[in-house]
Formats: sequence, C-alpha cells, structure tokens
Amino acid sequence: ELVKELAGTAELEAGLQAKLGIRQAVVLPGDSDRLTSVKNAIGRQAARIAEEKFESCRTIAVTGGSTMAAVAAEIRAAKKNPAMQFIAARGGLGEEMLHQANTIASSFADKTGGTVRTLYLPEHMSAEALEMMMKEPIIKEMMELYDQTDLVIHGIGDAEEMAIRRRSSVTEVEKIKTGGAVSEAFGYYFDKLGKIVYRIPTAGIQLEQVQKAPGIMAVAGGRTKARAIESYFQAAPERTILITDEGAARAILNPT
Ligand code: G3H
Repeated sequence: ELVKELAGTAELEAGLQAKLGIRQAVVLPGDSDRLTSVKNAIGRQAARIAEEKFESCRTIAVTGGSTMAAVAAEIRAAKKNPAMQFIAARGGLGEEMLHQANTIASSFADKTGGTVRTLYLPEHMSAEALEMMMKEPIIKEMMELYDQTDLVIHGIGDAEEMAIRRRSSVTEVEKIKTGGAVSEAFGYYFDKLGKIVYRIPTAGIQLEQVQKAPGIMAVAGGRTKARAIESYFQAAPERTILITDEGAARAILNPT
C-alpha cells in the first residue's frame, strides 16, 4: 500500500501499461479532477507526442471534449504543413461548441497550417434519417477519409456523464444504463468488459476504422475517469498511447 502511494509517475506508467495491456502510458503528476492545470499538462504532453507523429501523417481524426480542447490549445508548429488534413471524428453537435470535434479539428488545422474537413450533423438522428444521410456524397467522402486515417486522437468519457452532457433521450439513457455502459469514446458506449452497448446514431468514425489506424492516442485524466479508462482499454488496441494523470492512474492501479 505504502509503496504504491509513494510510487513515482514512472512506476505508475509501467503499472498502467501492464494492467491495461498497452505499450505506452504517460502519467502527468496531479489530478485533473481537482486542478485544471493538470488537464492542461495532459494537453501539452499529448500535443508534443502528436507533433512528432504529424511528420509521418497525412490524415488525422480528432474527437471532442475538454481534454481534446486542451490538446488543441497546446499544439504548435515550427513549420506550417498544408499537406496535413484534420477531420472531425464525429459530426454530432451534442456538446458545447468549443468542445465539439468540428471546432477542435479546425483548431488543429489552424495551428499547423493544415486543412480541415468538418461535418455538422444533428447529434440524434432517426435510423431512417441516418440511413439516407449515409448515402450523401459528402458523408461518403468523410467515411472514406476515416478509412485512411493515419492518426486518431480521442478523449474518453464516463458513460453516464456523457449521456447527461449530450442530453441523451430517455430511451438512449435506458440503453446505456441497462447495457451497463461505463465508458464512451467517439460516440460508442462500452461496458466494463469493453463490449459495445450503444452507439450514437450519427455519422462518425467506426470503431474498426479507429482500430486499424496506424497511430492512436487517448487523452483522459482524473480520478473519476478511472473506471471509464479501464473499460475503454478492454476494447483499445495495444498500440494506443494513453496520456493521463496520477489521479486516474492511482485509482486504476489501486482500486478502493
Ligand atoms: O468522448 C469523451 C469525451 O469527449 C471526453 O470529454 O475530455 O471533457 O471529459 P472530456
């Protein structure tokens, strides 16, 4: 117990890699639940890792959320690169504007001199409307881009919190609850074993497309996200790089 409490971030990183079955975890000191500066530090660290990857990337898909906004805020580019293309991983408008994937993709493009492809769709569509929408050339084009994604950078949310934040309908909340959803990422809800229990009916990147992308980065921190991170990593590929904080790491490694 004491040893765990005293463990430095390097030990926490090794512990997370082993427990979550991934090759690289980066742990920032502190807990972003308590201090915004810790979320900013996650953003800064993720930005540095992303910038290194940009050199070998053309198409980069990004999601929304406050942690992703922190990454976007920290992105800088020594040299502008118009060959880079940023795409919003989801078209949904469920969250406040600054935290939407579209806004974040635009901000990445702004900072790097790259281009952006956005997709503005209602967060909640009927199955019929979605089916029709998927036939639209503009959506098809977006789907092709998702297929060619070199790097995905995404947040991870707590299932219940995300359902509330996105003002999900009673039926949706029901599906999320009865399915035992614990985490949410790019519009998918996962249970504690990483099984998909629900997906928001809107156009966006498919789990298979995320899973085949050569580069994947996940940004999420805070003690309250520990269960969500564990749940999502049951579905995440081994090469996913997690950038998190001590609050989440300790709660994952030493559950109470
Ligand atoms: O899908 C996950 C959420 O977008 C995460 O949002 O970083 O504000 O907690 P957050």
